[in-house]
Order: sequence, then structure tokens, then C-alpha cells
Amino acid sequence: MREQQSGSRKKRTPEEIQFFKRRSHRRMLDMQHHVLVCNGGCCQRRESEPVIRALREEVAAQDLEEQVRVTASAQCIGRCSDACALVVYPEATWYRGMTAARVPRLTREHLRHGRSIDEWTSYAMVDGRLQRSEAYVVDFEE
Ligand code: FES
Repeated sequence: MREQQSGSRKKRTPEEIQFFKRRSHRRMLDMQHHVLVCNGGCCQRRESEPVIRALREEVAAQDLEEQVRVTASAQCIGRCSDACALVVYPEATWYRGMTAARVPRLTREHLRHGRSIDEWTSYAMVDGRLQRSEAYVVDFEE
């Protein structure tokens, strides 16, 4: 464990460290969804940063901060043709073409009520394997 935080942050006391560990543990147990938003190059060119901002704001506005964690992936998640792409866990539902305008509905329907929005998905987990969504039209021979 690092003894000192970098920069001007003060060193935490053992009691503070225990407090933050307990709080982090409680947050993990309360979490129901983890949203991984791609913030790689293709997705940055297709609105990923506004999507990330909108998601964080909408999660707070819908009072879901305890249940939903939003993470930006600095690396491409391998679906540039679907930019901006994001994945909702634990379902492992992959969304494509996400925009800030789509965020309120995604937050309300999937993150609050657990119903994926099939017309926006590209892949979803079925019986332990990712399957292409029926609504997802591919432009190559399978
Ligand atoms: S940069 Fe986002 S899927 Fe490739």
C-alpha cells in the first residue's frame, strides 16, 4: 500500500483508511449495474464524452448513484463500427450508436427498470454466450 498520496493530498489516518474501505465495500454491495462506456478514438469522435457526462448526470438526477457506476474505458472495446459503444453489466448488453440524447431513456429503462432497449443493442448475453441482437443488421457474410 502506498504510504503517501501524490501531489498535495494529505496522508490519511488509519481510521480514515478504514472508513473509505468500508464505504467502498458498501458501495460494491449496493451496485446493480456497471456501465462501461468506450472512450477510445472512434467513440470520442462519435460523442463518447458527452455520453459519459450525460450518463453521470442522469444517474444522479434519477437518484441511482448508489446502484449504478459509470466507467470510461480509455481503450477501444473493439466495436468501432458501433461508436459510441457501451456495455451494461452484469447483463453484458452491448449498445451501439449511443448519444447523449439516448441517455435518459437508457437510464430509465435499463438502469432503473432492468429492461434492455433491444433496438439499440448489438449483442447480448444469452445462456452464457454473447449473441447478436435481432435488431442489429450486419453488413458482412456470417
Ligand atoms: S473506439 Fe470505441 S469501440 Fe473502438
